[in-house]
Amino acid sequence: MQHQQLVDEIKVLMALVAAKTTTLADSVMEIDVNEYTDPRQFEREKVELFRHYPQFVGPSCVVPDAGDYFAFDDTGIPILIVRQSSGGLKAFINICSHRGAPLNECAHGTAKNGRLFSCPYHGWTYDLEGKLVGVPFGNEGFNGIDRDTLGLRALDVKEKYGMIFVMPNPEKTFDIDEVLGGIQERLSGFGFEDHYYLGAKQVSTDFSWKLNMDTFHEYYHFEFLHAESIATMAYSNTASYLQYGRNHSMGSPALSINELKNIPEEQWEPRNYSSYVNFIFPNTVIFVVQDHFQTWRVYPITPDRSVVYHSMFLPKEPATPQERQHYEEYFQMINDVAVAEDYSLVDKINRGLKAGIQRNVLIGRNEPGVQNMHRQLHDMLG
Ligand code: FES
Ligand SMILES: [Fe+2]
Repeated sequence: MQHQQLVDEIKVLMALVAAKTTTLADSVMEIDVNEYTDPRQFEREKVELFRHYPQFVGPSCVVPDAGDYFAFDDTGIPILIVRQSSGGLKAFINICSHRGAPLNECAHGTAKNGRLFSCPYHGWTYDLEGKLVGVPFGNEGFNGIDRDTLGLRALDVKEKYGMIFVMPNPEKTFDIDEVLGGIQERLSGFGFEDHYYLGAKQVSTDFSWKLNMDTFHEYYHFEFLHAESIATMAYSNTASYLQYGRNHSMGSPALSINELKNIPEEQWEPRNYSSYVNFIFPNTVIFVVQDHFQTWRVYPITPDRSVVYHSMFLPKEPATPQERQHYEEYFQMINDVAVAEDYSLVDKINRGLKAGIQRNVLIGRNEPGVQNMHRQLHDMLG
């Protein structure tokens, strides 16, 4: 994102703070509480949003060098993304052509010698392009098989603006600009390809993936739920809001934002005074704050279980053990706030949902991000 764009957005945030208000949607939204719990709707979401719709994988820096891979199977299809010797990417269904084991031991790492994947079950070996290049005891055990047809099955993967997206359905392709819907204008300038991937924390939750996502898209709850944490740093119920296709971006002013009134505009460092939740439909938040960014990717498991991966990306690799520890502690602190404050509250909401009381959930005009998330779901699923 360009500096001038951030400066212009800071001015919007300062005006909202001065007026003690926030960006408002046109009307209050009501949604049927059954949308969170209905098992038929859940099955449609799994298929239409997580199998037939392009998925955000991560910034390009999760696989910086040839042979680096990133694997996940949370969409219902095991997926392996691999950096090629040419610098490009390929994506495969992560199922060995022999008896179907996944090829990697970890979620994230480097292929053997930077160029081969060897199946942990019986050692069938594939190169970075997914070609089957080795079958132990193959001349006797598997004479007559056509190795050329037994490579890994390819998926459509696209990398642009420092971001990687993949289509889990091998029959489908996609256009990355269409998926981003314009949000690339603000995300492309952050240099997602050049950051350092500190790691990811996995949190399993006993509630719907949608309740999980809802927590990210409004700042209305800061002064109540996060009185001792986030509300000591950022304004509650004050946010800019911009829509980009199915996605959106919400800015949050730091409590210190009015210090900028005493600093000449050409010296402003906007990222020290604001943070941005960038929502990539249906399940990803890219949170840009200060000198770094984080991603949160949420996946459905059952109607009342979900999993979230919280990943941290730094402007550069920590230079000293002390610097690394500083970032690790900060990463843990942010994760703890989400788990101890947001998720423990949402756990209780989920108990209320399970009680089966018929009612509508209300989403205020001051919660345009939550409204957009549900509006897009309605648009996709009818
Ligand atoms: S399942 Fe991969 S080698 Fe047997
Ligand atoms: Fe929260």
